[in-house]
Amino acid sequence: MNWDDETASAPEERIVGAAAEGDDQAVEAALRPKDLGEFIGQEKVRQQLDLVLKAARQRGATADHVLLSGAPGLGKTTLSMIIAAEMNAPIRITSGPAIQHAGDLAAILSSLQEGEILFLDEIHRMSRPAEEMLYMAMEDFRVDVIVGKGPGATAIPLDLPPFTLVGATTRAGLLPPPLRDRFGFTAHMEFYEPHELERVVVRSAGLLDVAIDPAGAAEIAGRSRGTPRIANRLLRRVRDYAQVKADGVITREIAGAALGVYEVDSRGLDRLDRAVLEALLKLFGGGPVGLSTLAVAVGEERETVEEVAEPFLVREGLLARTPRGRVATPAAWTHLGLVPPQAAGPAGGSGGAGSGQQGLFGS
Ligand SMILES: Nc1ncnc2c1ncn2[C@@H]1O[C@H](COP(=O)(O)OP(=O)(O)O)[C@@H](O)[C@H]1O
Ligand SMILES: [Mg+2]
Repeated sequence: MNWDDETASAPEERIVGAAAEGDDQAVEAALRPKDLGEFIGQEKVRQQLDLVLKAARQRGATADHVLLSGAPGLGKTTLSMIIAAEMNAPIRITSGPAIQHAGDLAAILSSLQEGEILFLDEIHRMSRPAEEMLYMAMEDFRVDVIVGKGPGATAIPLDLPPFTLVGATTRAGLLPPPLRDRFGFTAHMEFYEPHELERVVVRSAGLLDVAIDPAGAAEIAGRSRGTPRIANRLLRRVRDYAQVKADGVITREIAGAALGVYEVDSRGLDRLDRAVLEALLKLFGGGPVGLSTLAVAVGEERETVEEVAEPFLVREGLLARTPRGRVATPAAWTHLGLVPPQAAGPAGGSGGAGSGQQGLFGS
């Protein structure tokens, strides 16, 4: 899936965007769980990782290389830090885009301490030559440093201390198989269940010293798109509202009112998401309608509709991408409180109506 794109080309900061923005980073550092016991949800990943790390500790060895894959905001960076904490090892943090040349990587690798954790974020965006150097480093703890240029260049082999690479990616499918195969353990992070996000919200509220009742936490969790980063961001906006407009305590009512101000609806759709859905339903009878036509109707770029709004609508089962165009599901009608035109059925029924209206906008 194309998780990256949901945020990559966002025209403005979105309160429901999954990428870290603005003051997120500073606050997140304070909210990060410090060990596996504190890490909420991702039961499978936690259990497996716990075994991998315990076994390595018992052997007195460095842990296998770990690949963390999953959408932005699900806890990959957090887990990498937890791995370091659990192994009682220092961590070096860098990212694929920061490594432009193989030499950049060689410099990092050759300065690692024994047992150090190297966290390589966005590992799918590393350059090819660096990637090839990484293969050998991961497998044999060795790099060839090239000295000189042209025919006179020589490769000087350099032994590395054993280390653990923790790679993170939003696009596991983009990793070349030889790289993927060199990880001893791959953890695939899923979106969180509402009850898990509720625990994230309650925990964060405790750390931020905010009073919240269970219904208030549930309300925020339900609007957080399965993503802890978004849950924490919404919590902060609701906290502001509760402080200014009420007595500071977050209840369901306060949370709902606050997020109403920020135009985040009961399912976590924002203004743009709703505009797309509304156009699809009200102007095109639920589709099918072409992407360009839909984009013109909401006054947005094609790419914005496709990459910013649609991924979540598709994931929520509100919109489907079909060969004939975008189609609303029955859940979309229900969510916007509208009644589908014919009881006959939503998708595929009368293609004529959709394509007829499409002409209206196509001219
Ligand atoms: N399982 C979790 N339990 C509690 N908080 C979490 C969890 N996963 C993520 N978070 C919170 O969400 C924020 C974003 O997590 P992060 O690790 O930066 O995501 P990613 O690196 O995958 O984009 C962090 O501040 C962290 O506090
Ligand atoms: Mg991260």
